[in-house]
Amino acid sequence: MSSHSKRSEKKVTTQILREMKTRGEKIACLTAYDCTMASLVDAAGVDVILVGDSVAMVVQGLDTTVTVTLDHMLYHAALVRRGVERALVVGDLPFMSYQVNSDEALRNAGRMIKEAGVEAIKVEGGEVACEAVRRMVRVGIPVMGHLGLTPQSIHSFGTYKVRARDQEEADTLLRDAVLLEEAGAFAIVIEKVPAEVAKKVAAAVDVPVIGIGAGPHVDGQILVSHDMLGLYTRFQPRFVRRYANVADDMQDAFSRYRADVRSMEFPSPEESY
Ligand code: KIV
Repeated sequence: MSSHSKRSEKKVTTQILREMKTRGEKIACLTAYDCTMASLVDAAGVDVILVGDSVAMVVQGLDTTVTVTLDHMLYHAALVRRGVERALVVGDLPFMSYQVNSDEALRNAGRMIKEAGVEAIKVEGGEVACEAVRRMVRVGIPVMGHLGLTPQSIHSFGTYKVRARDQEEADTLLRDAVLLEEAGAFAIVIEKVPAEVAKKVAAAVDVPVIGIGAGPHVDGQILVSHDMLGLYTRFQPRFVRRYANVADDMQDAFSRYRADVRSMEFPSPEESY
């Protein structure tokens, strides 16, 4: 049982996140991909739960996020939604579900809201995404942007290294953040950029800027739950702080179970009918 009573707190909305930025109160965000994990994250008082397309890597066992489909995302988002009472639930739109044209983007964002029941969607990209963002916002779909290292573009980046280290890319990032805010985005994730660049972005826009590998001078932080739990161990980016070693605990539990089955220590008379 969590020490945090989520029932005692108000449901998180995009307006509340904006107020938190104004008050200088940091926003805690994590990913989740299923109901059980989502309910634990929610009970801990985390403000935003992102059903990230990182599901491709940490659940589906793939090397990138680019192949995950809209149907996969709808499935996982619906599971997460079922487990959450307080946090704002944001569903990632996967690669090529919003880039072809803004009609398709709008239709797919609408499916996330209507079929999965999420309260907001996330798209990657700056200026290029703005037309779609504007149309979604106009019909009442809250949109979170995502700049910096945008994993859906990994094949054009060629590497997961830090972005916006040079002035030109830092300037573009700042401009994209302003354009996303003008298009109506309620928050912007910035991933793996120097802390000083992220600081300038957070100061330049009124909407909350949520960092992942973007240093401390932003309005909130997000991590992939499987990374911070030490559950996904294929690699660990420098920006991940591990709060547990769940993979070790699980491995140990599975091994002890196997040994107990082999030795007939399990089940005991008390565990039998
Ligand atoms: O897919 C994801 O989990 C994300 C976060 C890393 C921001 O986009």
